[in-house]
Amino acid sequence: MSVINQKEWLQMIEEYLSGIEYPAAPATLYRPISYTLSGGGKRLRPMLTLAACEACGGRPEQAINQAIAMEMFHNFTLIHDDVMDRSSKRRGRPTVFHRWGDVQAILSGDTLLTMAYQRLVTDCPAERLPQVLELFNRTSIEIYEGQQFDTYFEKRDNITIKQYMRTIRLKTGVLLAASCAMGAIMAGASKEVVDSLYEYGVNLGLAFQLRDDWLDVYGKANELGKDIGSDIVNRKKTWMFITAMEEDPTGIRESFELAKTRGALVSRVRRVYDRLLIPLRCNALIEKYHSRAIASIALADIPDNYKIWFTGLAATMALRHS
Ligand code: IPE
Ligand code: IPE
Ligand code: MG
Ligand code: MG
Ligand code: MG
Repeated sequence: MSVINQKEWLQMIEEYLSGIEYPAAPATLYRPISYTLSGGGKRLRPMLTLAACEACGGRPEQAINQAIAMEMFHNFTLIHDDVMDRSSKRRGRPTVFHRWGDVQAILSGDTLLTMAYQRLVTDCPAERLPQVLELFNRTSIEIYEGQQFDTYFEKRDNITIKQYMRTIRLKTGVLLAASCAMGAIMAGASKEVVDSLYEYGVNLGLAFQLRDDWLDVYGKANELGKDIGSDIVNRKKTWMFITAMEEDPTGIRESFELAKTRGALVSRVRRVYDRLLIPLRCNALIEKYHSRAIASIALADIPDNYKIWFTGLAATMALRHS
């Protein structure tokens, strides 16, 4: 049984990212990309790819290009997401949109997306390429669908929990799922194993986004690296917002009518949430999807030590502060 070395995976990812050589010109195009890729982050998606590859009997080197492609794609979605959400802070620094403007965020994001494709097909055996591309393309389109629902729902107040769950599955769940499946595919795993790792990733992703939404209200800005309260200000239809809207519509409406500043609005909505025990109930829901993730990995035909690693990761992510 091989020893799991998460540090080695992370080191491999960082080395690879820092070794990317960017063309000198146009600097305005490449600077925001290197800024984004070198800005830290948890590296969750590429780590899942390397872990899944190893868990399925492969060597992490076999899937490193595809792992980097997942991280590049993720960072591309973040650059564009910050334009859509008008977010000025990420990973404790100004966002690309805030620092360089919309045009740069769009163009540098586009370039990073194409760079992700270049990585994806690098050192990918010909017989795996169709499966790899199908997974990547399907996942990308699902994420755009999720982002479309997410932004469209800002302007509507009658969104259901079911619509919310579908949205977060699309915008977040499928990328974690595909990151797991990608590693398994690169190791030549069976369809059953690929599917159970995918299922683990989806549930991990649902818990992950619920926690992200919770942190947007209850997190600490210095730990999270993002501005607190943005979802409230943007009227994002999170589980917390939808639930509060159902149970105390007057409290929510009055918060928006009476608050004179951003800070006052966030405090008012938070008070409504607190009264309804929403933070506690949201954590219970996170726990539900966390448990489902564990159940999915338990069914996968991979060595026990990898099951334990994937289980531990789900717990860490469900309780994370950043
Ligand atoms: C942020 O993802 C976007 C969401 C899906 C919530 P992460 O929280 O994984 O961002 P980084 O890469 O660690 O900064
Ligand atoms: C991001 O969701 C999902 C994607 C980037 C696809 P959020 O908008 O909640 O992510 P943060 O909070 O800005 O990181
Ligand atoms: Mg968003
Ligand atoms: Mg956002
Ligand atoms: Mg968020």
